[in-house]
Amino acid sequence: ITGKPDSVLALPTGATPIGMYMELIKKKLDFSRITVFNLGEYYPISKKNNQSNYYLLNDGFLSKTNIKRENVYILDGETQQPDEECKGFDEKISLAGGIDLIILGIGVNGHIAFNEPAEKLTLDTHLCDLTARTIEEHAKYFGSDETVPHKSMTMGMGTIFAAKRILLLANGLNKADAVAQIFSGEITTSNPATLLNLHHDVTIIADKEAASKI
Ligand code: GLP
Repeated sequence: ITGKPDSVLALPTGATPIGMYMELIKKKLDFSRITVFNLGEYYPISKKNNQSNYYLLNDGFLSKTNIKRENVYILDGETQQPDEECKGFDEKISLAGGIDLIILGIGVNGHIAFNEPAEKLTLDTHLCDLTARTIEEHAKYFGSDETVPHKSMTMGMGTIFAAKRILLLANGLNKADAVAQIFSGEITTSNPATLLNLHHDVTIIADKEAASKI
């Protein structure tokens, strides 16, 4: 942010990046020329829902910086046309000049953004079904499995891989298996994070628990 004040960032939600956002807010950096895209959004979901990525990113970070509203692009979980919304998103990223730095969390099953383990992965931003494991895992945030949306819009693998730099953050023992697989020497769509081995500029920051099985 200080080195390239007009950076285009792609930012995650979830529990993992909360500490990073608090640190960034404390530093009182100048975000006035920064552009932000979010990684994805549940679908459907109201912007007022305090578990929507829209709410979490605004409340936990953006509203506490001097980032300009017009430089923030968050997929709209209220849209009637999710496919159009996703298509427009990749265009907006291209128009912004591409992503300089994408910050990712990782799901317990190795998902990045909401690219869930599957036989085939999708390149572009798209609407996807969440796996039963993810729905179960996210119930802790929503209160019950029934209120977790079963779909999400997400940046695709191509969108993520087009970023110039990738930073993946992982905390906690429940991420250890997914993180260890990244270092297994194999890549597989059944753990989308393993494909990060194919990108030329990836940094992983993991706490002791998340790194314990490497
Ligand atoms: C969601 C998000 C991911 C995030 C993951 C892990 O699935 N789509 O971007 O990385 O959750 O969340 P947490 O950091 O809460 O474990």
